[in-house]
Amino acid sequence: MGTAMSSGAVVWLTGMSGAGKSTIAQALVKQLQTFAVRATVLDGDVLRTGLNADLGFSEADRTENLRRVAHVAALFCQEGYVAITATISPEMEHRENARKIIGADSFVEVFVDTPLRVCESRDPKGLYKRARAGQIPSFTGISSPYHAPEHADVVLHTESMKVEHCVERIIAHLTHARAARIG
Ligand code: ADX
Repeated sequence: MGTAMSSGAVVWLTGMSGAGKSTIAQALVKQLQTFAVRATVLDGDVLRTGLNADLGFSEADRTENLRRVAHVAALFCQEGYVAITATISPEMEHRENARKIIGADSFVEVFVDTPLRVCESRDPKGLYKRARAGQIPSFTGISSPYHAPEHADVVLHTESMKVEHCVERIIAHLTHARAARIG
């Protein structure tokens, strides 16, 4: 495992708010670290409190937010880390732009595929309730679109899969992708 994953990668988690991206990212980073793989999490919610605190949720701001996240992830990747990003990244264009910045060989797109009804019933931050009440403009899934990836490398149905299983699926993909590249 150490050899197979000794070069960097970016695991780009995309999905709606409440889909489970941060939970999966945290479980994945822990698991990788137990394999002595250098790994880090870049969480949209966290980055928006600092590096991206000047940005909101307009189309232009989301594009800039995700451009910055992709560049930071690329730096980690170049240093040999597995950078795990957890951002909604709602548009195909956001993810394609990230793929270009990072490099297709290092980019693993993971769709955290949780239906809106499930995200909304979880509502961990109470945001869906507020968005339905019209208190949050441009809320993804309610008043702003989420365009699901069509060719994600890994698709996780969190409704029926445990977090550990999601982590296993991503690690299996990373291991096979590396093995294929090393030959
Ligand atoms: S992204 O669209 O630019 O990729 P990002 O993942 O960084 O979004 O941030 C999403 C988080 O911001 C959500 O999990 C939620 O906590 C919060 N948030 C606040 N306002 C919105 C909004 N209008 N749409 C989506 N998420 C929002």
